[in-house]
Amino acid sequence: MTITGEFPARPQSGKRDGNRNTHANNKYDLKRMKTFESVLKAQQLSKQVTSPGGLLTILDRVDLEINQGESVAIVGVSGAGKTTLLGLLAGLDVPSEGKIWLRDEEITAMDEDGRAALRANHVGFVFQSFHLISSLTALENVMLPLELSGAKHASDIALRALQNVGLEARRGHYPNQLSGGEKQRVAIARAFVIKPTVLFADEPTGNLDQHTGETVIDLLFRMNSESNTTLVLVTHDTSLASRCDRILHMNAGRIEREEVPEHSRSTNVE
Ligand SMILES: Nc1ncnc2c1ncn2[C@@H]1O[C@H](COP(=O)(O)OP(=O)(O)OP(=O)(O)O)[C@@H](O)[C@H]1O
Ligand SMILES: [Mg+2]
Repeated sequence: MTITGEFPARPQSGKRDGNRNTHANNKYDLKRMKTFESVLKAQQLSKQVTSPGGLLTILDRVDLEINQGESVAIVGVSGAGKTTLLGLLAGLDVPSEGKIWLRDEEITAMDEDGRAALRANHVGFVFQSFHLISSLTALENVMLPLELSGAKHASDIALRALQNVGLEARRGHYPNQLSGGEKQRVAIARAFVIKPTVLFADEPTGNLDQHTGETVIDLLFRMNSESNTTLVLVTHDTSLASRCDRILHMNAGRIEREEVPEHSRSTNVE
C-alpha cells in the first residue's frame, strides 16, 4: 500500500507556535523538538467493579501526565487494566475515584453530554474491533465524526482522509466488503479526521498481518509527527512499544514502571 498526501496540521495556539518557531520555551526536547505542554493528566485514578466474588479493583490509584505530541505505549499482561485505563482517559467511562484533565478541562467534572462534546472535538479512538457502522460505507463512516461536530465539507475532508490511508478506491464499500487491514485503516482515518488532540488506540495491530500492521503503525506515527497529535497506544507488540517516546508498564491495575526507549533519550534544556 502506498500512503500519499499530507495530514493537515492541527490548529495550535499562538503561544505554542511561537515557542516552536523561536525555541523560546523554557523546556523542549532537543532531539524531537516537542514542547513540554501537558495535554492529558490523571490523578489517583481508580476503578472498582462488582463481580461475582465481590468488589474488584481493576485500576488502582494511577497517576500519569502526557505532553502534547508525545507517543506513549501502555503495555502489560492480559487483565492488567490497559483497556480500562484507555477508556477512562478517553472519557468513554468514568472512574470510581480520581481526576482526569484533557487539555485544561477536567473531564471527571463533566456529565455525559460534556464528555461527548469534548470527545467529538478532541479525541480519536481506534478500537481493536474497529467499531465501524455496518450500514454505512467507508466514506460515510469517516464522515460521521465530522457531521457530529458540525464541520462543513464533511464529504471532501473524509475523502481526503481515505486517500491518506490509501483507500479512496474503497470509499463505497461497506465494512463487510473490506479486509481486516482495510477496516483498521478506515477506523484510523475516522479517528484522525477531526484532527484530535489525543488519539487512543487499543491494540491497533492486534488483528493484522505483519506487513499491514507495520503500514498502520507508520500511518499513526506519521500523523503524530505531521499533526503533532498525541498518541496513546495499548499494545502487546514490543517493537511498536519501543517506537514510542515512553512505555508505561502496567500490572494488576497499577503503572509499575516507566521506560524511555533508547531512541527517545536526549538532553532536555532548562
Ligand atoms: N465491567 C467489568 N466487570 C468486571 N470485571 C471487569 C470489567 N471490565 C474489566 N474487568 C476486569 O478488569 C481487568 C482489567 O481488564 P482490561 O480489559 O482493562 O484488561 P487489559 O489489560 O486490557 O487486558 P487485555 O490485554 O487482555 O486486553 C480484567 O481482569 C477484567 O476481567
Ligand atoms: Mg485490553
